[in-house]
Amino acid sequence: MTTLTTTPLAPLLSRLFDEAKAASTDVMAAVADLSESERTRLMRSKTDYRDLYARFRHVGLPVSRETGTLLYMLARNCRARSIVEFGTSFGISTLHLAAALRDNGGGHLITSEFEPSKVLQAKANLEDGGLLDLVEIREGDALQTLSVDLPETVDLLLLDGAKALYPEILSLIENRLKPGAFIVADNADYSPDYLQHVRSPGSGYMSVAFADDIELSMWTGKVHL
Ligand SMILES: C[S@@+](CC[C@H](N)C(=O)[O-])C[C@H]1O[C@@H](n2cnc3c(N)ncnc32)[C@H](O)[C@@H]1O
Repeated sequence: MTTLTTTPLAPLLSRLFDEAKAASTDVMAAVADLSESERTRLMRSKTDYRDLYARFRHVGLPVSRETGTLLYMLARNCRARSIVEFGTSFGISTLHLAAALRDNGGGHLITSEFEPSKVLQAKANLEDGGLLDLVEIREGDALQTLSVDLPETVDLLLLDGAKALYPEILSLIENRLKPGAFIVADNADYSPDYLQHVRSPGSGYMSVAFADDIELSMWTGKVHL
């Protein structure tokens, strides 16, 4: 029996994933007036991401069901007590990670979201899932909100906000990562400099791409020669 697979969380997640699937046409509609090249430019922009995500304020854009389950499994396996998330949205990934904290015996998850209506929705979902007590939602741009008051150590980092900011967010957290900490980056193919960093020998990471849209990295620590 796990928190993830029992009531109230299991039926809540099932409903939230169904709602996200039903909203897929809204996702397309939100950027229908933009050309393919403009969409790609915005996805890779380190400055214009706010405008892009404002278009998505009514849609969840969650991780896949498989990625959600993977997040739960990774957080359980590394016995995570301290988790940081970039990009809360409606809190679907947050619910998976917080469920793992619950089943690990407790802990603290800091997550970040700049759309106020999404913060409210995520809070409501975490409350319905019985997990709000484990989560601190920091409202505002993660470049600021994740630059202060971080825990001494971080066991798992999920990167799922503006893709172009993955290197900058990682650098805010890197000196807190425990040896063996996991970093899960969703859709990291939009952030070539992030991929180059975590895949470089000597950067302190082991890193693999899989399932088309995930880069899973593990912090091994830098070797000082
Ligand atoms: C792909 S969605 C996150 C989905 C969520 N992880 C889930 O699985 O349910 C990305 C979210 O990150 C937020 N976001 C993007 N860039 C951000 C930033 N710089 N600071 C805070 N939030 C940001 C967006 O508003 C959006 O809600």
